[in-house]
Amino acid sequence: MRCMEEQTAALKDGREVKIRLVAVEDKEQLLAMFSSMSESAVRWGMPPYTRDRIERWFAAFKDMIGLVALHSDRIVGWCSIYMQPHPRRKGIGELGIYLHQDFHGVGLGTTMTDLVLELAKQQSMHRIYLEVVEDNKPAVRLYVRSGFSAEGRLRDAYFGDDDQYHNTIIMAKLLK
Ligand SMILES: CC(C)(COP(=O)(O)OP(=O)(O)OC[C@H]1O[C@@H](n2cnc3c(N)ncnc32)[C@H](O)[C@@H]1OP(=O)(O)O)[C@@H](O)C(=O)NCCC(=O)NCCS
Repeated sequence: MRCMEEQTAALKDGREVKIRLVAVEDKEQLLAMFSSMSESAVRWGMPPYTRDRIERWFAAFKDMIGLVALHSDRIVGWCSIYMQPHPRRKGIGELGIYLHQDFHGVGLGTTMTDLVLELAKQQSMHRIYLEVVEDNKPAVRLYVRSGFSAEGRLRDAYFGDDDQYHNTIIMAKLLK
């Protein structure tokens, strides 16, 4: 059973957001956030983030540690760890994070990542990993400062909106 008190986080630009565990009822609001993301905000992701995609995330709700950030009761950030259910992947989870473009570069990514890692630790998770496009500099910087190490580079593993292939990096952090 996951539990966490709602937290208030002060951002570097003086705004405040509330961060709490995601609830099943957040699905529509989350879809609204993804629908209002700019092309540049999803540039290094796997768009489109359709209703079907988000429905699939929520279908795995029990295997997810998910956080949402709210500003004026609107979801502006999403950070999750998908805990792999197979026994041979015990304690292994994949991290994902998406913030609305109006909330980039003000420390929200760092705050949400550190919080979700803390929750994963409380649940005795062992290894958290992710794959990031090498050219996604803010994301790589965020992961390094949150304690992730690069484990390998996949050459030309991502075809960007610039019609070019880009390398991706597998990064991971062991929690104990
Ligand atoms: C990637 C993302 C989560 C980063 O979150 P953020 O809140 O903007 O990042 P923070 O403000 O917490 O900053 C984290 C670090 O990145 C650095 N950073 C932020 N923006 C940067 C930029 N444009 N270029 C280089 N570094 C940057 C910060 O300086 C900070 O490092 P520091 O603490 O050493 O100064 C956010 O930009 C985002 O949601 N992007 C779109 C979705 C995405 O790409 N997700 C990741 C998919 S793998």
